[in-house]
Amino acid sequence: MTMKLRGNEFLNGKYTTRTTAKSFLLVPFTLLLIMLPLSLMRNSHESTPEVSSVTVSSSLNSTEIKQCDIFSGRWMHTNGAPYYTNETCHWIIDQQNCIKFGRPDREYLHWRWKPDECELPLFNATQFLNLLRGKKMVFVGDSVGRNQMQSLLCLLSHVSEPEDVSHRYSSDVMYFKRYIYHDYNFTLANLWSPYFVRSSDADPKGHSFNSIIRLYVDEADEAWTSQVENFDIVIISSGQWFFRPLLFYEEGQLVGCNKCGMENVTDLTHLFGYRKAFRTAFRALNDLEGYRGVTFFRTFSPAHFEDGDWNKGGKCVRTRPFTKQEMKLDGFVLDMYMTQVEEFIEAQRVATKRGLQFLMMNTTEIMLLRPDGHPNNYGHSKDKNVTLNDCVHWCLPGPVDTWNEFLLYMLDMESEAYYSSKLERVF
Ligand SMILES: *[C@@H]1O[C@H](CO)[C@@H](O)[C@H](O)[C@H]1NC(C)=O
Ligand SMILES: *[C@@H]1O[C@H](CO)[C@@H](O)[C@H](O)[C@H]1NC(C)=O
Ligand SMILES: *[C@@H]1O[C@H](CO)[C@@H](O)[C@H](O)[C@H]1NC(C)=O
Ligand SMILES: *[C@@H]1O[C@H](CO)[C@@H](O)[C@H](O)[C@H]1NC(C)=O
Ligand SMILES: *[C@@H]1O[C@H](CO)[C@@H](O)[C@H](O)[C@H]1NC(C)=O
Ligand SMILES: *[C@@H]1O[C@H](CO)[C@@H](O)[C@H](O)[C@H]1NC(C)=O
Ligand SMILES: *[C@@H]1O[C@H](CO)[C@@H](O)[C@H](O)[C@H]1NC(C)=O
Repeated sequence: MTMKLRGNEFLNGKYTTRTTAKSFLLVPFTLLLIMLPLSLMRNSHESTPEVSSVTVSSSLNSTEIKQCDIFSGRWMHTNGAPYYTNETCHWIIDQQNCIKFGRPDREYLHWRWKPDECELPLFNATQFLNLLRGKKMVFVGDSVGRNQMQSLLCLLSHVSEPEDVSHRYSSDVMYFKRYIYHDYNFTLANLWSPYFVRSSDADPKGHSFNSIIRLYVDEADEAWTSQVENFDIVIISSGQWFFRPLLFYEEGQLVGCNKCGMENVTDLTHLFGYRKAFRTAFRALNDLEGYRGVTFFRTFSPAHFEDGDWNKGGKCVRTRPFTKQEMKLDGFVLDMYMTQVEEFIEAQRVATKRGLQFLMMNTTEIMLLRPDGHPNNYGHSKDKNVTLNDCVHWCLPGPVDTWNEFLLYMLDMESEAYYSSKLERVF
């Protein structure tokens, strides 16, 4: 497990500290497009996106004022204590248990996200569980998604503890977790599928840290598509695995690769695989006849390796967030972000027609500002001979808890919205 988890995910985490503003301009453009359906659903009497967008911008009223772009803001220093500790929450796995394994600084626990236009409410476990009574929620993707699930387990743990029923659903209980909160009849699960699409080892020497993988980019992985239909809330995300050496197949034919080192195969780069994987995943959700859930798409979570790549001594030793002046969303992180967002916008258009709700959790830039939030070399048990630093996952407690504050905020908005009956109602 350790190898699979750590090795594969520690891929090329390059990033830049340049302060160019040009690429940054690309982003606000899409903001309008994405926020549109969010506004639409609060506007009960409108039926088409085109009409609503006009109405929303021209007639603000108390209901509309209440919504706020929670993703635009800054990290603000606070003296508040974290929601839980390594002593009060037993769900923290060693890889992310930074305090247990000796991380000396604590400043990274004292920053809260402050949206420009409003306050992001504190996570309220009772409120969360009441909202999700009788519901099923699943994280689909890789171990950073699981990182968020484990944060959620901790955030809920002072109100309710679940029963682990993973074995009833999968023989691979390391990768396919399922918990039931009996007091609330709430199911929390994760479905492991870091590529969303069918994959297989292509390396004659078998699977290892950086071995080559075949990706059938137009075939959704049944590991999640066969399970996801019954869930009410699906949180989908993926990232670092796409930087590996990959062979891309479409309609069963090799069409290109990423870093495969084969002269006769076109290098389509990681972005090709990333785009196609999201396209296929979103399409699979839209095509599943029985699927009635709300889909949350959590955007790319940047790594923060400095002084070297993940496998060349790279590390993340900072103890404070970056300011927006110090760190801009650009270069390779922006490329990843834009690629997936483009696919999301298209998928959301199709989903809306089908009556499905697709929402975006826009956390890329927010987390880009948190180089101090990763385990680095404090995230694993000391008796293991691990020489790689983890600048991909997030310490628990840590800034990843903020993702669940966003999640609760969005779910709460969703439940309050009295939107058009054209969209499926989950609450
Ligand atoms: C995502 O959030 C950032 C701020 O962190 C903002 O600049 C950007 O416009 C947002 N993008 C979308 C599509 O909402
Ligand atoms: C605000 O909008 C809601 C629904 O769109 C409507 O029922 C309400 O009357 C509006 N309030 C005001 C003050 O315009
Ligand atoms: C929590 O972390 C501290 C180090 O700060 C350690 O001494 C303690 O044993 C840890 N507790 C648990 C339950 O892991
Ligand atoms: C948390 O939510 C519950 C139920 O909605 C509410 O009764 C309680 O006052 C909230 N707690 C805080 C601290 O806001
Ligand atoms: C629990 O929730 C499920 C839906 O997730 C529902 O089918 C079932 O009837 C509920 N059970 C109880 C005891 O309320
Ligand atoms: C590429 O060349 C290798 C030998 O170097 C060969 O085994 C492989 O079949 C070739 N692949 C394609 C797609 O032509
Ligand atoms: C730990 O790693 C070092 C450097 O790679 C190696 O020399 C040593 O033998 C390893 N120790 C164990 C117990 O595996």
